[in-house]
Amino acid sequence: MGGLVYFSSASGNTARFVARLNLEAARIPISPSDEMPEPATPYVLICPTYADGEGRGAVPKQVIHFLNDATRRKLLRGVIAGGNRNFGTTFALAGKVISDKCNVPLLYRFELAGTETDIARVLAGLDKFWGTECLTMA
Ligand SMILES: Cc1cc2nc3c(=O)[nH]c(=O)nc-3n(C[C@H](O)[C@H](O)[C@H](O)COP(=O)(O)O)c2cc1C
Repeated sequence: MGGLVYFSSASGNTARFVARLNLEAARIPISPSDEMPEPATPYVLICPTYADGEGRGAVPKQVIHFLNDATRRKLLRGVIAGGNRNFGTTFALAGKVISDKCNVPLLYRFELAGTETDIARVLAGLDKFWGTECLTMA
């Protein structure tokens, strides 16, 4: 199975979601002065959305910094986005932005820290995703 990298702000919703997956995951730090994870294997990125009213700034700055590095970006295989449906059309927009920019599939969207159903679906989905990924790599 491939790896997981995630970002979560001080509110910690995405961190709680990732903790419940019970899979190893590297965290992109909140502070720009802390070290970025340097994945050595393919990974899926889990990222919350922080857009303004017009949908700008959906991808958190630290995630942009992380993805600006070509070596890290080369190993990105898919994205899972967090958000809140109260935001309407910009719900989980960070996922679409990253998917479009980095040309990887948007695998799933969830609200806040996710539900039990979200956790089960993501676990099953990742299993299947890495299975097919291995086949395409063979
Ligand atoms: C300033 C601000 C802007 C946000 N904008 C959006 C948005 O455009 N779309 C969306 O789906 N969620 C939006 N959210 C909700 C967050 O994505 C959601 O609370 C998420 O769970 C935060 O994850 P974190 O606690 O791991 O940082 C916004 C939250 C804040 C505080």
